[in-house]
Amino acid sequence: MSRKVTKAIFPVAGLGTRFLPATKSVPKEIMTLVDRPLVQYAIDEARAAGITEFIFVTSRGKSALEDYFDHNPILEEELRAKGKDKLLETLDATNMESGAIAYIRQHKALGLGHAVWCARRLIGDEPFAVMLPDDVIAAEKPCLQQMVEAYEETGGNMVATMEVAPERTSAYGILDVAENVGTVVRARGMVEKPKPEEAPSNLAVIGRYIMGPSVLYNLNHMKKGSGGEIQLTDAIAEDIGNGVPVFGYRFKGQRFDCGSKAGFLQATVSFALARDDLRDDLTRYLNDIVATSKAAQ
Ligand code: UTP
Repeated sequence: MSRKVTKAIFPVAGLGTRFLPATKSVPKEIMTLVDRPLVQYAIDEARAAGITEFIFVTSRGKSALEDYFDHNPILEEELRAKGKDKLLETLDATNMESGAIAYIRQHKALGLGHAVWCARRLIGDEPFAVMLPDDVIAAEKPCLQQMVEAYEETGGNMVATMEVAPERTSAYGILDVAENVGTVVRARGMVEKPKPEEAPSNLAVIGRYIMGPSVLYNLNHMKKGSGGEIQLTDAIAEDIGNGVPVFGYRFKGQRFDCGSKAGFLQATVSFALARDDLRDDLTRYLNDIVATSKAAQ
């Protein structure tokens, strides 16, 4: 099997309950860090890694996501008439070529593993990436690109991994490490959301994966796992038992958990501070509120 990765699945069919009431009508992936929706960061990262086919697993109420990738002829005409070329360029970068993007429905939120399985007919017999747009990773070289380069050497299955505080293991898939060779870690097992006292390590799986089609075969007969959901972690772990290696890749970069309110706010501040047009005002504001709160103490 070739190790060239050109397809990516974006599972975005979750309910986004941590952001209710906003997510009652706005898909979580459309929420913006400064002025770009979360999904745009994921698409840009995928493109940088050489992805040319983008498969979204969506659900009821996600039509704003489909509209986002469409041309908006009325808006474009207005901007053209007003000579707003810079804004036109900004819009242009969000358009997808015809046929590059596909939408599949997950009819019931049965879990991440089930969402990925819903896209099986569009994958065929080749490796593919899975990207969770609510994990936003700021990195000099985009995270998926780092992984695609490493995957060309290793093959097998690869998951992005990072160390988390030992008391936080129950929020993540956790690697059972067989061999730790610097950036790449070979796993002998994976456990979804273990209690800290049962966790085999504190190396957590983050929302970037490169997998072979065998994981999709495993999902054909998957049963409910942790939290009563069909877990992607379980299907990847099954591959280890079948002799397909699974590697954790310690990416270089800073990951923000934009599926949580605290992570989303931290990402907003961090991305705003990275912008020339916002840095000075925001820094002044942050310094002021820190000084005021210190004075009040
Ligand atoms: P989360 O665990 O963050 O769940 O899913 P969620 O529904 O998005 O958010 P909360 O926890 O209710 O606030 C991780 C990723 O898996 C997708 C989600 O859309 C998100 O990108 N997912 C999860 C699905 O596509 N389908 C599912 O059945 C579950």
